[in-house]
Amino acid sequence: MLATPSLGYNENMSQHATQKRVTAPDIRARKGGQPIVSLTSYHAHTAAIADKYVDFLLVGDSLGMVMHGFETTLPVPLELMIMHGRAVTRGAKQALVVVDMPFGSYEESPAQAFRNAARVIKETECGAIKIEGGLRMAETIKFLSERGIPVMAHIGLTPQSINVFGGFKTQGREKAQWAAIEADATAVEQAGAFAVVLEAIAEPLAARITKMVDIPTIGIGASAACDGQILVMEDMLGLTPNVPRFVKEFGKVGVAIEGAIQAYAEAVRSRNFPTAENTYTVKD
Ligand code: KIV
Repeated sequence: MLATPSLGYNENMSQHATQKRVTAPDIRARKGGQPIVSLTSYHAHTAAIADKYVDFLLVGDSLGMVMHGFETTLPVPLELMIMHGRAVTRGAKQALVVVDMPFGSYEESPAQAFRNAARVIKETECGAIKIEGGLRMAETIKFLSERGIPVMAHIGLTPQSINVFGGFKTQGREKAQWAAIEADATAVEQAGAFAVVLEAIAEPLAARITKMVDIPTIGIGASAACDGQILVMEDMLGLTPNVPRFVKEFGKVGVAIEGAIQAYAEAVRSRNFPTAENTYTVKD
């Protein structure tokens, strides 16, 4: 009698067929179509919740500020991005996961960028990486894209250049700045980026760039005309104390957390927690 074929293989195959993960080319193909929805995520549990509603999740280096209390994104090490990247790919089953390359891990040369980006892809199993910079990063974007690494570009306000900008400053509010930002957008498109984040760019310029390039633009503080939008999850949940103007709080999670912690503290102090429901009896 023939042995029953091993269960694992066939089961996994059918699971793959029903739960196809969004890919970088899928996002690329959404240019001009239904708006692309995305959020940042740094942990498995928020990734699992957001997975049902977003097209891609970004493990942004903003995690340095949001989760670890740094004042800028500059101190974030590659290892931290990999650790959080792993958590998010474990939590999300359908959304494309994009992991940010942190400051100092890719700017030196295309070879340095490839070495570190390949490590991120191998160790996190994410589907793409993001790097900051336009024209100046075009050679690197081309190098990575041609070697199997899908790249999301990021132009406008690029927080890793905060010391050059002199602060988190909106870009393109003066028309004299437009040509340089447009050149950045065209350069990353031509270099092979599958999408480009437009951060804190004056609305008319963001709308113009969206018309100009043939890859999806993902706005954050940019324009409703962009092909998609991204926000930092903690900002839109109402967990961040002082949010920039471009954030809309879609929830009051900070208030809910505080209320729950206060109720817990009161219940412990008044010996109303734990109750019989929360404790174990002895087996007879
Ligand atoms: O690090 C981040 O969260 C980002 C988004 C703001 C686009 O780059």
